[in-house]
Amino acid sequence: MCNNRSMDAPEIVQHEGLKSWVAEMAELCQPDQIVWCDGSDEEYDRLCQELVDARTFIRLNDDLRPNSYLARTDPSDVARVEGRTYICSRTEQDAGPTNNWMDPTEMKQLLSEKFDGSMKGRTMYVIPFSMGPLGSEIAQLGVELTDSPYVVVNMKLMTRMGNPVYDVLGTDAFFVPCMHSIGAPLADGEGDVVWPCNPDEKYIVHFPEERSIWSYGSGYGGNALLGKKCLALRIASTMARDDGWLAEHMLIMGVTDPGGAKTYVAAAFPSACGKTNFAMIVPPQAFADEGWKVTTIGDDIAWIKPGSDGKLYAINPEAGYFGVAPGTSYETNPSAMDTIKANSIFTNVALTDDGDVWWEGMDGDPPAHAIDWQGNDWTPESDTKAAHPNARFTAPAIQNPVIDPLWDDPKGVPVNAFIFGGRRSGTMPLVVQAFNWAYGTYLAATMGSETTAAAFGQQGVVRRDPFAMLPFAGYHMGSYINHWLDFGRRIQNPPRIFGVNWFRRDAEGNFVWPGFGENMRILQWIVERSHGKAVAIESPLGWMPRHQDINWKGLEDFSEADFHKAMSVDRAEWNQELLDHEELFLRLYDLLPVEMHSIRNLTASALWRSPERWEMNTDPT
Ligand code: OXD
Ligand code: MN
Repeated sequence: MCNNRSMDAPEIVQHEGLKSWVAEMAELCQPDQIVWCDGSDEEYDRLCQELVDARTFIRLNDDLRPNSYLARTDPSDVARVEGRTYICSRTEQDAGPTNNWMDPTEMKQLLSEKFDGSMKGRTMYVIPFSMGPLGSEIAQLGVELTDSPYVVVNMKLMTRMGNPVYDVLGTDAFFVPCMHSIGAPLADGEGDVVWPCNPDEKYIVHFPEERSIWSYGSGYGGNALLGKKCLALRIASTMARDDGWLAEHMLIMGVTDPGGAKTYVAAAFPSACGKTNFAMIVPPQAFADEGWKVTTIGDDIAWIKPGSDGKLYAINPEAGYFGVAPGTSYETNPSAMDTIKANSIFTNVALTDDGDVWWEGMDGDPPAHAIDWQGNDWTPESDTKAAHPNARFTAPAIQNPVIDPLWDDPKGVPVNAFIFGGRRSGTMPLVVQAFNWAYGTYLAATMGSETTAAAFGQQGVVRRDPFAMLPFAGYHMGSYINHWLDFGRRIQNPPRIFGVNWFRRDAEGNFVWPGFGENMRILQWIVERSHGKAVAIESPLGWMPRHQDINWKGLEDFSEADFHKAMSVDRAEWNQELLDHEELFLRLYDLLPVEMHSIRNLTASALWRSPERWEMNTDPT
């Protein structure tokens, strides 16, 4: 069974709908053979060896990085392609102004031309997978058909995949069909390249009404591992809107206080804001000594449903991490470094002479010589980067030393607080608690983040990224905001909502806040506020801590004046900010809930009567 190379489905597959879809797609794509994946370790090892034989994988030194591999992609295939990502809802209005749209009938015609014969000379793999613990009421099933063995082995690490999914599929369970081809058919006798893909044409397409995904031309990351951004965010967000839940671009963490009480927090940050680092935050020593502990449920995606007890329960639909390697080190994220010690796949990082991996920002000195992500010699004198800025590791979540004991619980964990945070060098204070759910929705809807050269090629431009979902919402962003408002009205005791900004800079351009582990100090205040404890005073933007409301043990050289710099609200900056919000609102105008205009006006009013530079050195009395 683990190596079924006939066209027939193995005995365990009892789902006629699945079998006929596979047959129909095989007819279209014309692969040489079909492999129904069973998800076993033997299958994983066999495919990795085939990838080594094909030169797509290099096996790393087993003493230094056991059971791990390096892949180098084609230079045209190094990141998600937002410009080639489509939401093909029936009407253009449903996709909204922030998504690419094409008429679904026209798109299907185009795709059937692209997929016609697209797997010639290759194998079609059938990957059954579950997003979320198998059998969880919050989980969803998917089946990806792909001609990329790289995708199969990554899906094995990133999802629950294989035979147990066929069991849950039974004869007729619903699944999301995910069709993927690298778009590089092989003619008879034609040799393969190291990273086959279609350098000229890529299409990442979602049909939200029929809940299906078609991806063509790319073999990398979110373009190709279709359980992640395509299913767990774009398709799931439309399911969540229709069925009354939330599919969010959020990490989930457990925070244990010195008394042993645990609070779960979900946090949304745009790409390239250190989400994986925050999900695995190492509290400062003084906090650890007091008994504070942070554990990870997930680092990228949260699915959240109301439970019968009126609380919100969240699961991480993924089973692995697909993290950005550059900048990851024992200093910035020791738990991530421990997670990727073995059994991991690295893509587009550098290869050291002793057969290990390296990237910019890793601990210690750079190697004297390495092979860079494009396969060229590299030394510290080279004027190119050794690793691509979007180089990634894929690793099983279970290897995270601070994984939360409930990370795999089908019930999920109760969420008490939501955090939203972008990368802003000015304007946004270090932390603010929204006055209520509607203000929190406003805060999330208007979130902006400065682009980094690594992520967008242009530095320092504020990109509005509502809910950190701009590239991931499967429908009109105005309706998305409305769904949040509506959802909040239906739950009895909604979690508190907070905004954070770890990235504020002073006039000289230096970061005002040390960040990383020190973010724990802000997290403590958030956790306490989420239980109605800890003092806060009213600012023009929401509730804020005073200096004395934050635990400063072990950070005595961060002065009260520094804190005020990180927290101040500058009226001129905020007037500009509100104009930017208005611009976003005009874009989303047709479906934007009126509350957003009202809260913008109320914020303008609060700023109007506040001093030019508002600081929280006021006493709350
Ligand atoms: C990611 C992203 O890769 O958000 O998680 O871009
Ligand atoms: Mn992400």
